[in-house]
Amino acid sequence: MKTDSKPIIIAVDGFSSSGKSTMARRLAAAIGYRYIDSGAMYRAVTLYALDHGFISADGTPYSEAIISSLHDINIDFAIQADGSQHTMLNGVDVEKEIRRLRVSNAVSPVAAIAEVRHALVAMQQALGKSRGIVMDGRDIGTVVFPDAELKIYVDASAETRAQRRFKEMIEKGAAVTYEEVLANVVHRDHIDTTREESPLRRADDAISLDNSTMSLEEQDAWLLDQFNKVMSR
Ligand code: DC
Repeated sequence: MKTDSKPIIIAVDGFSSSGKSTMARRLAAAIGYRYIDSGAMYRAVTLYALDHGFISADGTPYSEAIISSLHDINIDFAIQADGSQHTMLNGVDVEKEIRRLRVSNAVSPVAAIAEVRHALVAMQQALGKSRGIVMDGRDIGTVVFPDAELKIYVDASAETRAQRRFKEMIEKGAAVTYEEVLANVVHRDHIDTTREESPLRRADDAISLDNSTMSLEEQDAWLLDQFNKVMSR
């Protein structure tokens, strides 16, 4: 690696539960960059909407109500003693709350609202101003940072991803079945790839990674290798 290298922006995009957050977080820690989970921001807006009755019983968001509340929604990340980050919604730690199935089930339609995306994309771009970040999401390499020096697109089958997510949720004590988790993954994939506003797609200059059969260590090594290649250019 060149010692005079300027910090870069690393975009990690992919389907839900593709393991992209874990890999982005680990890469950021290994290279001393800041990690930003853009999905957490969409989840925080969704939690706000749920708590304010802005989502109907059948999961349809009341877009107008959400849009006019955007200026009342402040999202931040608080760094913990162990280095992890907790999502803060209007000053309250909502890290646990935004991971619950209640939010997971409601988030995709909220993330499909153009005005919500515009507001969050602007926040994400501001967070990347000083570079030296790894951000994961769906549109980071295509919309948020089209000039990111390193773009990774993570791919894995819906079954593999559902299996991983199911295991994670069971370990956290959630009462869910594999079928429920798979249905949620497939449903979210559909909304994320077919929405009109910046759907999930691979940026032309992104490097694809199918991590279905990779161990965490193999994944870390592969990512570090990609990073070092960019830095030595
Ligand atoms: O990565 P995740 O599962 O926490 O993302 C939650 C939702 O937010 C998911 O429906 C996709 C959406 N999202 C998005 O549209 N754009 C991003 N940059 C990040 C997440």
